[in-house]
Amino acid sequence: MPPEGRRRASTVKVTDRSRRTRRPNSGGVRSITRPPLPRRSLAPPPRHGLWVTRVDVRLDVRPRRVGHSSIGCASPGRDGTCPGPCPSAPPCALRGSNFVTLPALTPVRPDDEPRTSPTLRLPLVVGNTPLVRIDRPFTADDRGFWAKLEGFNPGGIKDRPALHMIRRARERGDLADGARIVESTSGTLGLGLALAGIAYGHPVTLVSDPGMEPLMQRMLRAYGAELHTVDQPCREGGWQEARRRAVRHILAGDPSAYCPDQYHNPDNVASYAPMAHELLEQTGGLDVLVCSVGTGGHSAGLSAVLREHQPHLRVVGVDAVGSTIFGQPARPRLMRGLGSSILPRNVAYPMFDEVHWVAPAEAVWACRRLAATTYASGGWSVGAVGLVSSWVARTSAPGTRIVAVFPDGPQRYFDTVYNDEFCRTNELLDADPRPDPDLIEHTSHREVTRWTRCTTVTDPAGPAAARRR
Ligand SMILES: Cc1ncc(COP(=O)(O)O)c(C=O)c1O
Repeated sequence: MPPEGRRRASTVKVTDRSRRTRRPNSGGVRSITRPPLPRRSLAPPPRHGLWVTRVDVRLDVRPRRVGHSSIGCASPGRDGTCPGPCPSAPPCALRGSNFVTLPALTPVRPDDEPRTSPTLRLPLVVGNTPLVRIDRPFTADDRGFWAKLEGFNPGGIKDRPALHMIRRARERGDLADGARIVESTSGTLGLGLALAGIAYGHPVTLVSDPGMEPLMQRMLRAYGAELHTVDQPCREGGWQEARRRAVRHILAGDPSAYCPDQYHNPDNVASYAPMAHELLEQTGGLDVLVCSVGTGGHSAGLSAVLREHQPHLRVVGVDAVGSTIFGQPARPRLMRGLGSSILPRNVAYPMFDEVHWVAPAEAVWACRRLAATTYASGGWSVGAVGLVSSWVARTSAPGTRIVAVFPDGPQRYFDTVYNDEFCRTNELLDADPRPDPDLIEHTSHREVTRWTRCTTVTDPAGPAAARRR
């Protein structure tokens, strides 16, 4: 929920006891009014350019008495301030208290950085995403999990690697000033690269396939990217390989162009180090990390840093049925974002304790149930990760601290996951998922077609490839 999410955050309704009024026929219910905003947010915007205002909404583990201390408190006390452990919320599994806080509005002032430099300004709107508790009724009981809402980034989770890969390529001299960025994308990285292109002053050419949602195509073009769509899948590697071939073709015609190659670029992995530190700060420590796997970037980057601090961390990977990443045969897939029909070198196989494959109908069920019961939802990968995380929560010891990464918000999927006609046509509404996944001993034992897990995770390319990683 990128921009909407931020706006919503800034308009959280709270009771302002100094200004409450009684409406006629309100049945004793007090009208809820917004508290006055801090003065500085009312200052006029700068004459040139955009004045970006950050608002962080967090479920935090400590009360932060900042500026307007009670704004955002779920259950303010009589004086309107946060009274301490929230009576209305179950205790935080992490540290025993649970506060919704809205740190003070922190405008990025035009004076803080050179006015002419989006290079410094734009990256500031990426990161520091909120963590929200997901439990009953989405999970079976109070054993819930924490969701890291990467949809609060302007374009989603891939804003982080896009900015980092481009910054590093420029530093190394692989990408000259003004040279073109060319990449294959199913959408999310495209949004991130469009952002990076504007931030660092590069034209962006993206290659996608007919599965890209019309909304995403229009957004990418609106953000200034040139979009090419391949029209035939390759026999080996499907649409993904067709897109990569088209990228190679474009690169061959433009010697100065640069392709970040997100599947194999270690900067993709490294870009998640700050997010790992955000998680450590927000949770104070975690026991289980649940991540979807596409290029392998965020699962590898987060688990590498988190394991340094929490060697016992259990990492659960979530893949799509029909994806070849963990050794299953590659099949045409409806789900986008997670899964792959090639073997990305960024996947850190030794980091995973287990992998789950999820089918599209199961992800749709979870997306819709998440949306209806928690408001925190997203696309295919969010549904798949949510489904698996609720199972991890139910089957782990009470008090286990579980974090799930939700890579994006729901808007992009209004015509797929959240469209009844699309779902009916693709037989995605037929049944609720079973409470437990099937179990296979080894990924080579059989092809999976529905929610299944496996606790033996090996590199399908074999030990030699594993040593090269
Ligand atoms: C929406 C979405 N979810 C999940 C993923 C998988 O993340 P990663 O590539 O870091 O493995 C992606 C990757 O593009 C994505 O776009």
